[in-house]
Amino acid sequence: MLIKVKRGWELPESAVTPEDVFMNRRQIVKALGIAPALAATASVLPAGAALAAAGEDPTVDLYPVPRNEKYTVDRPLTTQHDATTYNNYYEFGSHKQISKTAQRLEIRPWNIKIDGLVEKEFEIGIDDLLKQVSLEERVYRFRCVEAWAMTVPWSGFAMKQLVELAKPLSGAKYIKMNTIAESKAEMPGLRQFWYPWPYQEGLSMEEATNEMAFMVTGLYGKPVPKQNGAPLRLAVPWKYGFKSIKSIIQFTFTDEKPKTFWESLAEKEYGFWANVNPAVDHPRWSQATEWQLGGRQSDRVPSRIYNGYGEQVAHLYPKDAGESYFR
Ligand code: MTE
Repeated sequence: MLIKVKRGWELPESAVTPEDVFMNRRQIVKALGIAPALAATASVLPAGAALAAAGEDPTVDLYPVPRNEKYTVDRPLTTQHDATTYNNYYEFGSHKQISKTAQRLEIRPWNIKIDGLVEKEFEIGIDDLLKQVSLEERVYRFRCVEAWAMTVPWSGFAMKQLVELAKPLSGAKYIKMNTIAESKAEMPGLRQFWYPWPYQEGLSMEEATNEMAFMVTGLYGKPVPKQNGAPLRLAVPWKYGFKSIKSIIQFTFTDEKPKTFWESLAEKEYGFWANVNPAVDHPRWSQATEWQLGGRQSDRVPSRIYNGYGEQVAHLYPKDAGESYFR
């Protein structure tokens, strides 16, 4: 007998968009004369609330967005199945199969707070933010400190655009970011009280404004799935994956180096800088090689300094000379 096993990211029947909501969205797009490719910068979003209520990501019509060919990779793409069913997202559990539980996350309304050392603190809804940035697709490598790696097409916008919107003061040296941590029913992992919730990460201003730092809103030409960090996550591909914080609700500009989630737990194992470096081992694992999601763990390939992005980022770490994991 053939049994269809539902994959984590597939929507249940009950979440399929009702036809009237679907028609409504299409009619708005038509009435505004917006071609799908241009929709990234235009407002198909008035129907957002209705779509969210129907369980569909209200940004679905923004994708696919044009690919920026400057950011491609010389190895095969990881399959969508592998990238969306093998995840680290501790708020949903401290194992890799959290994709189904992550569907509990409510991603509307989704307000993002910009505060600290900025001209004026403010809050902005994700849909309003999306109207103010230009979206593109970039294929990036991704390397977890656990030694698994993937290659995926993220959609989103350069983090520099967010920094410009925030208007930081000259004293701002770092950006601290927080993940939502409001409901234990939505995020059962929050019941693990020994973790220092909320998940917190940070970048220096130079890192955040580097061309590679990317705010992710989509994956494989669709809105980014909840298990991968909807509706807004970070991708900093020259750093170990734990720096790429998911489901962000706050950006705080500060003059102090933020203490990150993993650093608070084990500062000798998870440094703030966490740049991929095959020559500096994690205290418990070698970082010399990696394996690709979808392949066998025994099929290892050499890891690369800055995960292959040295040309773009090495100048940020002149004193480190490759020792930038813990500093
Ligand atoms: N962000 C939050 N909020 N919570 C997490 O547990 N895990 C990190 C990072 N961002 C994590 C997070 C780690 S350890 C990794 S390797 C990546 O997310 C995994 O991203 P992926 O599941 O999209 O592959």
